[in-house]
Amino acid sequence: MNKLIELINKLNNTQTLSIDEYEYLIKNRNEEAANLLKEYAIIKRKEHYSNSVFVRGLIEVSNICKNDCYYCGIRKSNLNCDRYRLTKDEILECCKDGYALGFRTFVLQGGEDGAFTDEWLCDLLKCIKGSYPDCAITLSLGERSRESYQKLYDSGADRYLLRHETADEIHYSKLHPSDLTLTNRIRCLNDLKDIGFQVGCGFMVGSPFQTTKNIAQDLKFIETFQPDMCGVGPFIPHKDTVFANEKSGDVDLCCYLLSIIRLIKPNILLPATTALGTVRNDGREKGILSGANVVMPNLSPLSVRKKYALYDGKISTGEESAQSLQKLKNSMQAIGYQVVVSRGDINKNNNTFSKE
Ligand code: 5AD
Repeated sequence: MNKLIELINKLNNTQTLSIDEYEYLIKNRNEEAANLLKEYAIIKRKEHYSNSVFVRGLIEVSNICKNDCYYCGIRKSNLNCDRYRLTKDEILECCKDGYALGFRTFVLQGGEDGAFTDEWLCDLLKCIKGSYPDCAITLSLGERSRESYQKLYDSGADRYLLRHETADEIHYSKLHPSDLTLTNRIRCLNDLKDIGFQVGCGFMVGSPFQTTKNIAQDLKFIETFQPDMCGVGPFIPHKDTVFANEKSGDVDLCCYLLSIIRLIKPNILLPATTALGTVRNDGREKGILSGANVVMPNLSPLSVRKKYALYDGKISTGEESAQSLQKLKNSMQAIGYQVVVSRGDINKNNNTFSKE
């Protein structure tokens, strides 16, 4: 048997490979390997989640950010970015619309906006939880202190998304200014997990300076950190950033990695990201068919959707909008999957899918 197939079988059976083995898997990627990974990934996902696809309503609460990440369109130094921050009432209105549409998870995502004090956020969380006790709240608001995370958790937040961006310190420093460090990123992720959040990490595929070795390190990081969720999507350049002239990440490589991550942690919640749907029309369907099981339609008010531009060309109307949820359900049904209305928590019941 060739070494590539051997490694895929090993990963499928043991959920672990060495960094060198991950690197080999990526470097020698071919169609046969991609198809086998997909096949195994789909079997594993089915064991935990049947053919369910979970939806999360994404609310982009603010594009004001104190950070200056080189890849990101809402970086502080982008003076062309038309800044906004939703009010508490606007956010509650998004939740109300989302709830009526069937969403049972709200993801509040935004830049590191100084107006999001613990006090302000905790009040908001209590309001949302008070109105929708059957819903899960996910936060994606960047790096904060442990004390702050604890307060947010105590006020009702269930999950937190904080991509690690890259598990290699040197690569990290090529994507971020020096006040941002991988060490602090990992500190945040460890604190979040320790506090009891369901935690998501993740990275961009094809970010500038990323090597195959770096991706292998990311996979090893996921294997050791054991996140509940993992956001992986292609890098897409934004015209007002340092990386304006770089090229987008590869969809096929991204899907290949989604399959690998499914095998590393079979019960992981793995979104087919908006970025994947942006670089290719059928990107998200391809993601689902590679082992992803989550999609995150946009619930933000139409007036701000274009302003929350992390990269150029972000899909923000039509299929992407929550109002087109029915279309999304149809497109998932067409490839054999069912969008389900539930909180969609991670299935920790070690193996089999339970029907209730
Ligand atoms: N292309 C793709 N993804 C991006 N993100 C930020 N900028 C870009 C970009 N140009 C991702 C980062 C961040 C998440 C919210 O969006 O990984 O963690």
